[in-house]
Amino acid sequence: MEQRYNELIEILKKANYEYYVLDNPTITDQEYDKYLRELINIEEENPSIKRADSPSLRVGGEVIDSFKKIVHEKPMLSLSNVFNEDEIRGFDSRINKEIKSYEYVCEPKIDGLSVSLLYEDGVLVRGATRGDGVTGEDITHNVKTIKSIPLTLNKNISIEVRGEIYMSKDAFNKLNITRELNGEELFANPRNAAAGSVRQLDSKIASSRNLDCFIYHLPNPEEYGIHTHYEALEFMKGLGFVVNKNIKRVKNIKEMLEYIEYWTEHRRDLPYEIDGIVIKLNNLSDQERVGFTTKYPKWATAYKFPATLALTKLKDIVFSVGRTGQVTPNAILEPVILMGSTISKTTLHNEDYVLERDIKIGDTVAIKKAGDVIPEVVHVVTERRTGEEKDFAMILECPICGSTLVRKENEAAYYCMNPLCDAKHIEGLIHYTSRDAMNIEGFGDRIIEDFYNMGYLKTISDFYTLDTYKKELMELEGFGEKSINNLLDSIASSKKNSLERVIFGLGIRQVGKKTAKILAKEYKNIDNLIDASLEDLTNIKDIGEIIAKSIYEYFRNGDNLKLINELKSFDVNMTYTGSDIKDNPNFSNKTFVITGTLSKPREEFVSIIESLGGNVSTSVSKKTNVVLVGLNAGSKEQKARELNIEIWNEKDFENALNV
Ligand code: IVH
Repeated sequence: MEQRYNELIEILKKANYEYYVLDNPTITDQEYDKYLRELINIEEENPSIKRADSPSLRVGGEVIDSFKKIVHEKPMLSLSNVFNEDEIRGFDSRINKEIKSYEYVCEPKIDGLSVSLLYEDGVLVRGATRGDGVTGEDITHNVKTIKSIPLTLNKNISIEVRGEIYMSKDAFNKLNITRELNGEELFANPRNAAAGSVRQLDSKIASSRNLDCFIYHLPNPEEYGIHTHYEALEFMKGLGFVVNKNIKRVKNIKEMLEYIEYWTEHRRDLPYEIDGIVIKLNNLSDQERVGFTTKYPKWATAYKFPATLALTKLKDIVFSVGRTGQVTPNAILEPVILMGSTISKTTLHNEDYVLERDIKIGDTVAIKKAGDVIPEVVHVVTERRTGEEKDFAMILECPICGSTLVRKENEAAYYCMNPLCDAKHIEGLIHYTSRDAMNIEGFGDRIIEDFYNMGYLKTISDFYTLDTYKKELMELEGFGEKSINNLLDSIASSKKNSLERVIFGLGIRQVGKKTAKILAKEYKNIDNLIDASLEDLTNIKDIGEIIAKSIYEYFRNGDNLKLINELKSFDVNMTYTGSDIKDNPNFSNKTFVITGTLSKPREEFVSIIESLGGNVSTSVSKKTNVVLVGLNAGSKEQKARELNIEIWNEKDFENALNV
């Protein structure tokens, strides 16, 4: 029996190796399952026989109480990013400054989560997540269920390797279909699904998720007499790890760009998602020479793919009502993954947008998404029409209150003109709490809608009487003393906000946050603004006739004036305190261009610059005053030098803030 047991382990291990590493299976899935069942039966009848490397571990079973923290022996670094050819060339020329002759290794950038695997005497003893790079979490119990991770190696060595755990497109689609059938929330993309699976305490769940793993990094190559990254990959493959077969050595930038172009075209044919190409200097002593920053190796970078198009079916068009009463058509889409997130709904803006593109219900449409931008329907694939498509028709009545919609002159949008329409009020309340308006934290859209429907919140001034219902609110399902106290505290502190936040929060048509700032600065308090004549308003720089008219009319409406008086009676500050907009000469009226990788998301820099009166533009020209450069800045930095434009790094930026 023991002989048969060992034999079964050998058969299953060989089958696994042939399937995952050699990509050349010799037995069918059914045969594999049959052998595995036989093995599990033997183990169940003779528990003491079970070996540490038994393939039965793949089915899971181990359940842990909590994730143990582990400290990585060497930090798990992340990669810097480049987004275009110029930036790739920038990366190469920095290498070129240090080293004259070299080659690169190009690899698909697998969209999953990185993992560190530790083997002692050839046996897998620990799997850990990257965590913050220094400290990760022990996920050994789940890692053991991943069939492409060997439980034992082909050599009895002790070694750490690193790679990426991911979920194939196929496994992801199957998982989401099952979840939909069970009424469970769907995963947005394979990366989230993979990350959610390794963070399970019960390894049976991870086992059922069919995860996979590619190995791409050897942290201590010197211990094995290895001199290049490519050799390290071959060495790890020889030990039984799955190394991506599309990895290639390239001799120069031309070959690298060809590789990138090829995979930009063919990435959709891969059975797993990749979000870019990783470029690594091949020679390990060259790598050492080029070195590291605190976060990234300087000898490697990740080229990120640009926005892509996806085709999907437009199932329906539904209408929503915004705070100004504007009625917007929205496309309900067959869910489709685009740049890592699932898209199932998107705005169609207005009637003209739909008609100009001849969008019909039932059409196959191309969806585009660029970075964080809201996805858009770019065009209809008319070749896919079946004749069953339904024409779009703009609705004529408000979907919420039923009143007749009006299309204003010179505008594409239709409006619900009913001042009592619920949808407008709810959207108006949501807007008042939003980050750029009064920044009242803790209110999600749903809470506001519920409070509105329950009668606690009808107009903006009701936020300031919510405290009188504290007891009732605390008894609502999902709320407790702490969350209500937080809400009330946040409301109370909003009273101190500077005037521009109130102006923006009021939701005056055409008045965005920038105009609100201009008005606050100009008029200093709300009464001056209320008294401003149409002429005064029109004379302000950056305020055109349409905006001026809208502001002027807003303050001629009795209900609006009543609201402002109520807010005043609750001590909501109505003066410009300047706390938000410091007049910082380093920023005000200056045009900035941001390039390269910075330590914080780009939007954070944009919002600081704008809050201090500067502008941000995307391309460097004579009009640019300052170029803020991060890591791996490319052609923009070069152009700034040519044009003699001031160049700041993050440190300069911080210094400029402190005036
Ligand atoms: S190398 C020191 N190679 O991308 C080298 N990373 O954005 C560290 N990734 O944290 C990483 N595919 O999770 C490397 N072929 C590949 C990769 C890869 C995916 C991930 C990895 C890393 C992240 C950086």
